[in-house]
Amino acid sequence: MKILVIGASGRVGSDLVEKLLADNHQVIGTTRQDKKLFDADNYSQLDLDLLADKEAIQNQMDNDIEAIYFVAGSGNKNLLEVDLHGAVKTMEAAQDKGIQRYIMLSTVFSLDTKKWQSSAIANLKEYYIAKHYADQWLVNDSTLNYTIVQAGALKERAGTGKITVNSSDAGENTIPDVAATLAAVLSANSASKKVFSMQNGDTLIKEAIANL
Ligand SMILES: NC(=O)c1ccc[n+]([C@@H]2O[C@H](COP(=O)([O-])OP(=O)(O)OC[C@H]3O[C@@H](n4cnc5c(N)ncnc54)[C@H](OP(=O)(O)O)[C@@H]3O)[C@@H](O)[C@H]2O)c1
Repeated sequence: MKILVIGASGRVGSDLVEKLLADNHQVIGTTRQDKKLFDADNYSQLDLDLLADKEAIQNQMDNDIEAIYFVAGSGNKNLLEVDLHGAVKTMEAAQDKGIQRYIMLSTVFSLDTKKWQSSAIANLKEYYIAKHYADQWLVNDSTLNYTIVQAGALKERAGTGKITVNSSDAGENTIPDVAATLAAVLSANSASKKVFSMQNGDTLIKEAIANL
């Protein structure tokens, strides 16, 4: 499959690209950096800036892309322009190009404002607002075949291969397990038009996705 990964240089993005390349997909990764991130025949790179206007972003997308991952983020530095408006521009561009499959990395309880009272989330309120409205747009205003993966805190630890989905509490996620979950939803019918939260747990990733 020909796949665009927006945010290929990130902690999750780079793990995800490695997995997609290993699965023999044709991957186009985006970064504003000059250096080529991966040295593989099935990898190419695009200098895509989410601050650009929607038409410019759309023109950078090949017509034959079959799926898009959004794993970019401003790290709280430019939430409106990157995490909200930047994300929505890529959804609009995908839709206008006829690219149906769109997979968003989001955050736990992004769509459930009643859960925002906890101090951990209250401290990230503006980030949550940005992710909330980007996710709302994807679910309610687009015709895309979306999956929204809502991860809790990202941890730089070795992967476990096991997760729990849709727990009532937030939990931690190793970055390799988030990347593996994103890779696993790509062609899973069970993940089509689904929003689910994840944290490390006790179910094999493939099994957890199959039972969504
Ligand atoms: N931190 C957490 O605990 C947590 C929990 C749940 C979900 N998340 C979500 O996971 C996402 C990924 O996390 P991460 O740690 O992998 O992120 P990261 O390492 O900070 O990577 C951010 C990515 O966003 C790209 N980016 C930033 N500004 C951009 C712009 N203006 N135009 C185009 N690309 C831009 C960067 O590309 P360049 O190479 O161009 O800089 C980079 O690839 C976060 O953004 C967040 O929404 C995070």
